[in-house]
Amino acid sequence: MKTRITEMFGIEHPIIQGGMHYVGFAEMAAAVSNAGGLGIITGLTQGTPEKLANEIARCKDMTDKPFGVNLTFLPTVNAPDYPGLVRVIIEGGVKIVETAGNNPAQVLPYFKDAGVKVIHKCTSVRHSLKAQSIGCDAVSVDGFECGGHPGEDDIPNMILLPRAADELEIPFVASGGMADGRSLVASLAMGADGINMGTRFIATKEAPVHENVKKAIVAASELDTRLVMRPLRNTERVMTNDAVEELLRIEKEKGSDLKFEDIIEQVAGVYPRIMTEGDMDAGAWSCGMVAGLIHDIPTCKELIDGIMAQAEEIITKRLAGFQNA
Ligand SMILES: Cc1cc2nc3c(=O)[nH]c(=O)nc-3n(C[C@H](O)[C@H](O)[C@H](O)COP(=O)(O)O)c2cc1C
Repeated sequence: MKTRITEMFGIEHPIIQGGMHYVGFAEMAAAVSNAGGLGIITGLTQGTPEKLANEIARCKDMTDKPFGVNLTFLPTVNAPDYPGLVRVIIEGGVKIVETAGNNPAQVLPYFKDAGVKVIHKCTSVRHSLKAQSIGCDAVSVDGFECGGHPGEDDIPNMILLPRAADELEIPFVASGGMADGRSLVASLAMGADGINMGTRFIATKEAPVHENVKKAIVAASELDTRLVMRPLRNTERVMTNDAVEELLRIEKEKGSDLKFEDIIEQVAGVYPRIMTEGDMDAGAWSCGMVAGLIHDIPTCKELIDGIMAQAEEIITKRLAGFQNA
């Protein structure tokens, strides 16, 4: 399939694996890229520029296809070495960067000079337009369904995607709630040039996470996510568990007095315990409502080939059938 996104990034299929904390290692990105999608290494997970440079080199050993690096801008006390991370991305020859979390204006000139394409993840039309106006090449439009940070507007993709299509000139991919060929065709119908998936890619054979995480996603239904940290205006969609229910209890108790320190035990530094050790009650971890559509743990190639085959069947049979009838 050829879209503005496959052309821009030099990939076979219009399917991107969004950056994911403690999931986006070289194994994940290479598996997606080798299957014809766009794999993405998560910059901040690596910690330092040296470690990110090493991860980029490892990924290059595993694939000769294009892959990207995610650079998330977070409100943190100890800011990561962003200039160092930008430097190793450029020196490592990476040609695609997914930015998220905040306006990427400060890093854009460096990437532009180096010929790096930037796709910025946005949860609203106004942020997408801002990204377009500052020179981003594409946007990833993340609806209310998404795992991770859906923003504070709560607009689901059935509304957000056509709204984005009406306003944007640069290409965009639909993100949040995407799982299969139906998601891809629906997104294309609403004006997107491809899809971005997070949660679905965690439940794959190659995802470098503990088996418990994959099993938890397969076992979960669309009712099993919760929104946390809303009072801090840092809303995150996570899989429910004992720690998350405790976190919600604290949020309710503290009301508008809630401070980050009150919930630090449930959110800070929990990812390695969950993703690496499989301690599923260690804290809050991002997961999308799309868990309700995930029932298996295929290889990335099986997943992507299946999505493309189903999309083609829907377009050529089901939809074409309506037209001929
Ligand atoms: C476990 C997990 C960790 C994530 N970490 C990040 C991150 O560090 N930076 C980022 O930009 N997005 C992150 N995301 C969001 C994904 O890149 C993607 O936008 C989102 O998962 C799409 O929604 P879906 O899960 O419904 O496919 C994360 C998502 C998950 C599920």
